Amino acid sequence: MTTLTPQHVTVFLREAVDALKLKPGDHVVDATVGKGGHTAELLRMVGPQGKVIGLDRDSGAIAAATERFEKEIATGQLVLVQSPFSELSNVRQELAISQVDGVLMDLGVSTEQLLSPTRGFSFQHDAPLDMRMDTREDFTAARLLAEWEERQLQQIFFEAGEKSYASRLARAIVQHRKQNALERTSQLVDLITRTVPARSVSGRATHVATKVFLALRMAVNHEMEQLKQGLESALVALKPNARLAVITFHSLEDGHVKRTFLGWAADCVCPPELPICTCDHRSLVTIETKKPIVPSEDERALNPRARSAKLRICQKI
Ligand SMILES: C[S@@+](CC[C@H](N)C(=O)[O-])C[C@H]1O[C@@H](n2cnc3c(N)ncnc32)[C@H](O)[C@@H]1O
Repeated sequence: MTTLTPQHVTVFLREAVDALKLKPGDHVVDATVGKGGHTAELLRMVGPQGKVIGLDRDSGAIAAATERFEKEIATGQLVLVQSPFSELSNVRQELAISQVDGVLMDLGVSTEQLLSPTRGFSFQHDAPLDMRMDTREDFTAARLLAEWEERQLQQIFFEAGEKSYASRLARAIVQHRKQNALERTSQLVDLITRTVPARSVSGRATHVATKVFLALRMAVNHEMEQLKQGLESALVALKPNARLAVITFHSLEDGHVKRTFLGWAADCVCPPELPICTCDHRSLVTIETKKPIVPSEDERALNPRARSAKLRICQKI
């Protein structure tokens, strides 16, 4: 089910919140507050005796949520912290919260970030090549494009799924920057369009710049490192029987969540040829979603951003 707001449409609103099986009085972490769609629903589930700890690394998201949830913040039902979710253990320590009854992670960027005229997340309008979720950091996409070596550029484009033209694009960027800096999204889109052959552009289901923009955003924000550390911190934060729900938007993220859950769920990791177990590895979770939950036709139709969304859930043992 989906809730419409003027801008960001929360994906898997009911499914992700219901997956946590929260009770009144529970404490829960919303690791990615964004526009606050999930936060509002989590607040409703845990009620006035419960607590939601809301994190976002974007000061704009925290400011908007501070305004939206003024009442719940005043009563102590909601605590908002501008922090990357990789720092969840430190946040819990500072707030003196030992363990929680659920963690929700809704990854990626919000529509507000994507549509911002100044932040450069989208190839669809001209903006500075910034792409920082946390503007206190100083490493922008423009800096990455100016400083990284050709092979590093090639690698991130390839990993983001730009399999055919990763090396050609990396070379074109390095050639271009000898003469002119790449400072705006429109300059990068022009360069990509000039570099990828027209026959390939017309055969693609998505815009030719999609994968390059995804690669840059992920690198600027260290998104895979964040995800790795965030998942580990979430597992540590959960009480026994508490649940973790993770929403992803592309296969790199989903693949990592899937493999992490499988690793946590494995009971013995000894090679099969060993007659007895020597690893002492025991399952840490049970996986609630053997296959990820995907959006319904209705949700896809209502919200184009939901098309690639996947929801995976596990329960700590
Ligand atoms: C898809 S939006 C979340 C939408 C939200 N669930 C809602 O219902 O409105 C993702 C949000 O996560 C934040 N975010 C992404 N990576 C993060 C990280 N590593 N730590 C904290 N926040 C992060 C982004 O700044 C963005 O606001």
